[in-house]
Amino acid sequence: MKKYLVTGCAGFIGSTLTDKLLSEGASVVGIDIFRDYYDVRIKRRNIAPALENSSFTLIEKDLSTDLDSLSSFTDPSDELIIYHLAAQAGVRKSWGTDFRIYTRDNIDATQNLLEWAHSRGRVKNFVYASSSSIYGIPSDLPMTEDRTVPIPHSPYGVTKLAAENLVKLYTANMELPSVSLRFFTVYGPRQRPDMAFNRFIRAASDKKPIGVFGNGEQTRDFTYIDDIVRGLRLAENSTKGLVMNLGGGNRVTLLHAIETLAEVMGRKIEIKFSESKLGDVPDTWASAELAFSEMGWKPSVSLEKGLSQEVTWLLS
Ligand SMILES: NC(=O)c1ccc[n+]([C@@H]2O[C@H](COP(=O)([O-])OP(=O)(O)OC[C@H]3O[C@@H](n4cnc5c(N)ncnc54)[C@H](O)[C@@H]3O)[C@@H](O)[C@H]2O)c1
Repeated sequence: MKKYLVTGCAGFIGSTLTDKLLSEGASVVGIDIFRDYYDVRIKRRNIAPALENSSFTLIEKDLSTDLDSLSSFTDPSDELIIYHLAAQAGVRKSWGTDFRIYTRDNIDATQNLLEWAHSRGRVKNFVYASSSSIYGIPSDLPMTEDRTVPIPHSPYGVTKLAAENLVKLYTANMELPSVSLRFFTVYGPRQRPDMAFNRFIRAASDKKPIGVFGNGEQTRDFTYIDDIVRGLRLAENSTKGLVMNLGGGNRVTLLHAIETLAEVMGRKIEIKFSESKLGDVPDTWASAELAFSEMGWKPSVSLEKGLSQEVTWLLS
């Protein structure tokens, strides 16, 4: 039987992917340790619909320490597709002693899961959620998988790149099928509360000024959650250890994104500027050519439409 293992299943992207898999009739085992990086009640809400479904099993375990019990939730004859989304997210908190959290949840946890997957066998694919943060501040844009040298600009980016390299070397040395997908600023319903659009929508709806770090001229390649989930599903069959960008199509300055948000919300938005934060990069811009040629993926949701979905979700 085919079974899906989704790590980070209570998070923003993991819970949306889990719902999508269950809607396709799949059998899903989800793992999450409900870290308090943001309010865990939000994560409990994210995973509530899946818990109603008898094809879903939730395992509350820490991937960095505790994987032995995982084997009891899958039959050895099951063919597994592993979606590895668990991580400590966020660039800005990755400095100082908090870096230990990032090495534990992003590097140790990934290595642990790779060892488990290799020793278990019968893995159809190991799909790793990487990040545009691995690129840092390249001299040329757009960011292209084979031409842009990845030099992360934040400790978070360093851990995401280290984990991506771990995935690659388990494929090269042990023939573990894998693919890594570099997500570019994901937004939409269930977006994490520390992310810009979520903060902006809540502030604007309270008629408070929104806080922007830097002058607002920084560009981001915003990617709507449903496009990301569609990419994750297509990637199930891409098993050759490729690394692909998932982004492109909505690259705008932050100021432009705020103007679009003001139109969508039908109100004026006041901005309070403050200094850029350590680790912030001036631009992200994905080349999505490889994802298109490899699996026919391209983003389809406009910023207006995607933002209006997020506003509806957050204010309801
Ligand atoms: N959201 C984005 O814009 C974005 C962009 C690029 C890459 N990514 C990557 O996508 C993935 C999902 O991001 P998200 O925004 O949904 O984050 P999220 O914080 O909402 O979800 C991550 C989940 O992983 C869980 N987790 C962390 N460490 C764990 C551990 N050791 N064991 C078990 N569970 C653990 C957390 O409790 C959390 O629920 C992450 O790998 C992130 O690095 C996200």
